[in-house]
Amino acid sequence: MHSDTTVSVLGLGAMGHALARAFLDAGHPTTVWNRTPGRAAGLDGARVAGSAAEAVAASPLVVVCLVDPDAADAVLASTGTAPAGRTVVDLTNTSPGRARDRAHDLSARGASAVDGGIMATPPMIGGPYAMLLLSGDREAFERSRDVLSALGETRFVGDDPGSAALYDLALLSGMYGMFGGALHAFGLARSSGLRAAELAPMLEDWLRAMLTGLKDTAAEVDDGATGPATSPLAMQAAGFVNLRTAATELGMRNDLLAGIGGLIDEAVAAGHGDEDIAAVAGLLRSTSR
Ligand SMILES: NC(=O)c1ccc[n+]([C@@H]2O[C@H](COP(=O)([O-])OP(=O)(O)OC[C@H]3O[C@@H](n4cnc5c(N)ncnc54)[C@H](OP(=O)(O)O)[C@@H]3O)[C@@H](O)[C@H]2O)c1
Repeated sequence: MHSDTTVSVLGLGAMGHALARAFLDAGHPTTVWNRTPGRAAGLDGARVAGSAAEAVAASPLVVVCLVDPDAADAVLASTGTAPAGRTVVDLTNTSPGRARDRAHDLSARGASAVDGGIMATPPMIGGPYAMLLLSGDREAFERSRDVLSALGETRFVGDDPGSAALYDLALLSGMYGMFGGALHAFGLARSSGLRAAELAPMLEDWLRAMLTGLKDTAAEVDDGATGPATSPLAMQAAGFVNLRTAATELGMRNDLLAGIGGLIDEAVAAGHGDEDIAAVAGLLRSTSR
């Protein structure tokens, strides 16, 4: 087990820069590399590597944070044999399948692979609300845990390297659903001459109230309903017509609500009109895998 707290960061975009800053603030000797030079401004004390391979060679722990998995593929491919013997924690947002491919490639090259998702914005890194989801090589994670905790809370979610990406994307899906609904709500307000800020406090209270039923909805998705629906889909489909009509009346696009509205209608047509919103989950699988 290495006790070296030296770390390298590949990628100094908004997030990579915040990660490097947090490592430095925690006292970890930090080497950084970025495709475009000159992005290490503000990272006093960091050693700037001349290539990705040089950065990987500099530390036992390498954190990758690039825009997408294609960029990470290209950068890691350029590092040749440097990853051998290193722990590579890829915090680039990715899909479960591509996270597994990454782990497979790194393992074949002699590295220990951990994949991760960052549940925070750059200013949150190093603060009390930042969370990292990590999965893959458990021993490598345990070895790196103290250094990684400079970034935020670390949660190991499984030995499958795809697990962190799965949790990450599931949480982001919930977030985008919330933003989609909230932006439509703000659009309704503004189309009626209100300021979004006037609606926001009431919307926040309403969303909090709705969140109290989230775990019950999850249980219904898993196990089916245990009793009659209090808000059956047939009633919800009738109410959804008013959402569409209001958008038309106010000259608004309905795209943000179209997906769930269409699925509610589909569920009713398929005979689930007396069930709760959880029944919509049964329609989501698009292939028989
Ligand atoms: N920002 C957030 O709020 C946030 C929150 C959670 C997770 N994340 C995740 O963190 C990761 C990084 O996000 P970010 O906010 O730092 O993005 P960003 O500010 O757009 O930075 C992108 C980084 O990727 C590099 N890059 C892009 N294409 C490349 C290529 N082909 N080869 C080599 N390097 C390449 C850029 O280098 P150059 O400087 O040379 O262009 C830069 O370092 C993403 O996966 C993102 O989903 C971000």
